[in-house]
Amino acid sequence: MSSMFDLTGRVSLVSGAASGMGKAVAMAVAEAGSDVVLADINEAGAQATAQEIEALGRRALPVVCDISSPEAIRAMFAKIDETFGQIDFVANIAGEAVRKKPEVIELEEVEWTWRNIVYGRFCICQEAGRRMLKQGRGSIINLGSLASITALGRGHIAYSMAMGAVVQMTRELSTEWSGRGVRVNSVLPAQVLNPGLQERIDSDPRIKDRFLSGIPTGRFGSSDDIKGLAVFLASDASSWITGTLIPMDGGNLAMNAGGSVGTEVFAE
Ligand SMILES: NC(=O)c1ccc[n+]([C@@H]2O[C@H](COP(=O)([O-])OP(=O)(O)OC[C@H]3O[C@@H](n4cnc5c(N)ncnc54)[C@H](O)[C@@H]3O)[C@@H](O)[C@H]2O)c1
Repeated sequence: MSSMFDLTGRVSLVSGAASGMGKAVAMAVAEAGSDVVLADINEAGAQATAQEIEALGRRALPVVCDISSPEAIRAMFAKIDETFGQIDFVANIAGEAVRKKPEVIELEEVEWTWRNIVYGRFCICQEAGRRMLKQGRGSIINLGSLASITALGRGHIAYSMAMGAVVQMTRELSTEWSGRGVRVNSVLPAQVLNPGLQERIDSDPRIKDRFLSGIPTGRFGSSDDIKGLAVFLASDASSWITGTLIPMDGGNLAMNAGGSVGTEVFAE
């Protein structure tokens, strides 16, 4: 790996590191040389990721942390201060949502979703940002979604409102902090296979075809698809990249949903 992507001597924090994209990001930055703090509510899963990272020769600190709790986040940063005394990269990946139609969702469910996706990410950004600004260096990824900038329907009102806030958080923080060395970007995935998505696909085969018809590459994302972006954004290779929203979507956004048809329709 070219030295531009080298993360040796850096400390990264990844939320949701027990599985899915969080685990993939944690493994990617560890493979590039970083020590990693692994935040998750799934203690056994975070420990399993930690073992894989230690097998690479890096230090790993698994922490049970519910990112909807500011107290838990602050306690985690106290541990990071004590164990590493620095924080160079943060990937804000975890954050669940209640999926219900706008006309029936309870306000408490909207608030719960916001506590997970918006306040959780912001509180981690704030704690990390304070430390990174002192260091004069740092990089943050706030995971968004295509729901950050387009509407999904299907009962995603709370999720979309929260994910919309996430991209504005990224733009504001980048604008406030990048002049002092702290870069903030968002990655916006389309459908990446995880147990929840798999369950929905299995429950109705039409869902798979419908989703895939919006993805020109013809396949769902896999968690590992985020690994390259994570190393790029964590490293000096992206030193002038900040405030961006990077789709990771197999071409979904580039395609006009109403006017585009699959290439097979007009195939010779
Ligand atoms: N999979 C997709 O298609 C997709 C697309 C766009 C955005 N996203 C978002 O990406 C994130 C991760 O998705 P994934 O597919 O990797 O999911 P996943 O279910 O594979 O992993 C999520 C991880 O987060 C942990 N977690 C859940 N709530 C937590 C909390 N309150 N505090 C700490 N950890 C918590 C879980 O234990 C799990 O390890 C979610 O915010 C999701 O909304 C997913």
